[in-house]
Amino acid sequence: MPHYNLAFIGFGNVGQALVRLLDRKRDALKSSYHITYSVTGIATGRHGCAVNVRGLNTEDAIRLLQNGQSIASLSSNAVNDPMSVIEGSNADVMFENSPVNKDTGRPAIDHIRAALKRNMHAITANKGPVVHGYRELTELAKSKHRVFGFESTVLGGAPLFSVFREAFPLAEFHSFHGILNSTTNVILSRMERGESFEDAVRYCQESGVAETDPSNDVDGWDAAIKVAALVTVLMKIPFTPQQVNPTGIRGITPGMIASAKSEGKRYKLVCSAERNGETVKASVRPELLDASSPLFHIMDSDSGVTVHTDVLPGYSITETDETKMFGSADETAYGLFADFVRAGNPLR
Ligand SMILES: NC(=O)c1ccc[n+]([C@@H]2O[C@H](COP(=O)([O-])OP(=O)(O)OC[C@H]3O[C@@H](n4cnc5c(N)ncnc54)[C@H](OP(=O)(O)O)[C@@H]3O)[C@@H](O)[C@H]2O)c1
Repeated sequence: MPHYNLAFIGFGNVGQALVRLLDRKRDALKSSYHITYSVTGIATGRHGCAVNVRGLNTEDAIRLLQNGQSIASLSSNAVNDPMSVIEGSNADVMFENSPVNKDTGRPAIDHIRAALKRNMHAITANKGPVVHGYRELTELAKSKHRVFGFESTVLGGAPLFSVFREAFPLAEFHSFHGILNSTTNVILSRMERGESFEDAVRYCQESGVAETDPSNDVDGWDAAIKVAALVTVLMKIPFTPQQVNPTGIRGITPGMIASAKSEGKRYKLVCSAERNGETVKASVRPELLDASSPLFHIMDSDSGVTVHTDVLPGYSITETDETKMFGSADETAYGLFADFVRAGNPLR
């Protein structure tokens, strides 16, 4: 029965949600996949690092972090940074969930490279390494017979990359369009219901949909990095968020939204890309849609994408939460979990 030592590089909302999910699925992992695990390393940015090859108590780690304290007291050896955690954790799987760096993908790329070189599977929700290191990291993982998993980088926990990797053999991806950023979709949905831009942003910050600084979402950069990830992976053409050059939603006024509504239309931050030979034209920008567009009906924190291929004219994946009970970190954690199960499955 395989036992997996796990290292967490970055242990915020997503890392902690993954630990809770793993705990909830512990018995099912054992009975269905014969997988058991221990957490043997945790690295944070400002709250210390810890390793213990006999297993760390993750409840204690979460409690310390919730109190704003360092986790260093849990460590069996002195470790000061993510690299020493990767080295000292004796991990089989490294989860990289540090903040995204849209310009270079670092230091997440360095963490993933280091883990793969040490024969660990490397699994991430961080989009930076996908757009800035996809080829290198995929080849490195292949040469080591390990998984470089990034299912949760686009559409949270909804399976997307694995669907196209496993269920679309030899398909050519011509184009896609979608709504890939929840924060801006929530803001536009709430403005349509009469709320001001400022109040809608505040709602997103307070409910945890947006980060403290929401400009990454509002100015279209989060959407742009997701577009770049989809182009890079599905169309196999390296692409950066800077090439997408997004336009955000700051220019959409309540007056524009009211006038669109009176005509049965609405503004959406539309993400799209189209391949033409070896070139790609991609954009992120607000578009005025009517009810004939499938994207028109994607409201609030829901998201979705339609992909056009040479084998199927249109294939759509939509993530919805009518219960409003799932946090985005919980959904994201499921994508990481799915990658972990794939890594642990010898038939992958
Ligand atoms: N939240 C979501 O719903 C969601 C959805 C999809 C993708 N993602 C991606 O998942 C990743 C994690 O998101 P999150 O919401 O968990 O963020 P978060 O709550 O801000 O947590 C980030 C974690 O990374 C640590 N960290 C900061 N700088 C680091 C560094 N240089 N090396 C190692 N660790 C570092 C932080 O430690 P300190 O707190 O001590 O600084 C914290 O533990 C991000 O890349 C994000 O874009 C998140």
